[in-house]
Amino acid sequence: MVREALNQDFNRINEIGLLIKENFSTVYKIEEDLKNDYVHIYVYEEDNKVLGFIQIENHFEITDIINIAVDKDYQGKGIGKKLIQYVIDNTEADKLMLEVKANNDSAINLYKAMGFNQIHIRPNYYEGNIDALIMERSI
Ligand SMILES: CC(C)(COP(=O)(O)OP(=O)(O)OC[C@H]1O[C@@H](n2cnc3c(N)ncnc32)[C@H](O)[C@@H]1OP(=O)(O)O)[C@@H](O)C(=O)NCCC(=O)NCCS
Repeated sequence: MVREALNQDFNRINEIGLLIKENFSTVYKIEEDLKNDYVHIYVYEEDNKVLGFIQIENHFEITDIINIAVDKDYQGKGIGKKLIQYVIDNTEADKLMLEVKANNDSAINLYKAMGFNQIHIRPNYYEGNIDALIMERSI
């Protein structure tokens, strides 16, 4: 099931977040972030174990997906799709937006499978001259 993250989930989220960035917990200070009421983190839990999470920010008509990650051992089982579907079902925004590294094939495939379209490219946005793709999906 997908549910709102609780304080007790922070260590596990920071652990899974290492798949996004090796210094995830210092770049994304989730305990601080969650003090803002426009920030939400939802976790996917099975048998009392958190297997993935999605972090969003609500900005009026737009909800931004900031981070999404699924435990390596549980990838490819539809958990990423469930996390995005939960946001779609629960946001009051008109559209979802996100930014993704152009070489992150699994994430791009997930976003396409969930109805996102590429609307913009920021050339060489990331270290190593990697482009950023901006994608969006209407609700
Ligand atoms: C991106 C990520 C969240 C996907 O989660 P997941 O639970 O494995 O995704 P799902 O099982 O729901 O797969 C959904 C779709 O994504 C695509 N996909 C997932 N893993 C893939 C892979 N390894 N290669 C290619 N496509 C992949 C497929 O299109 C899949 O649809 P299908 O099952 O109908 O073929 C996961 O790979 C991850 O945690 N990656 C590391 C962190 C990251 O890069 N996050 C994104 C930037 S913040």
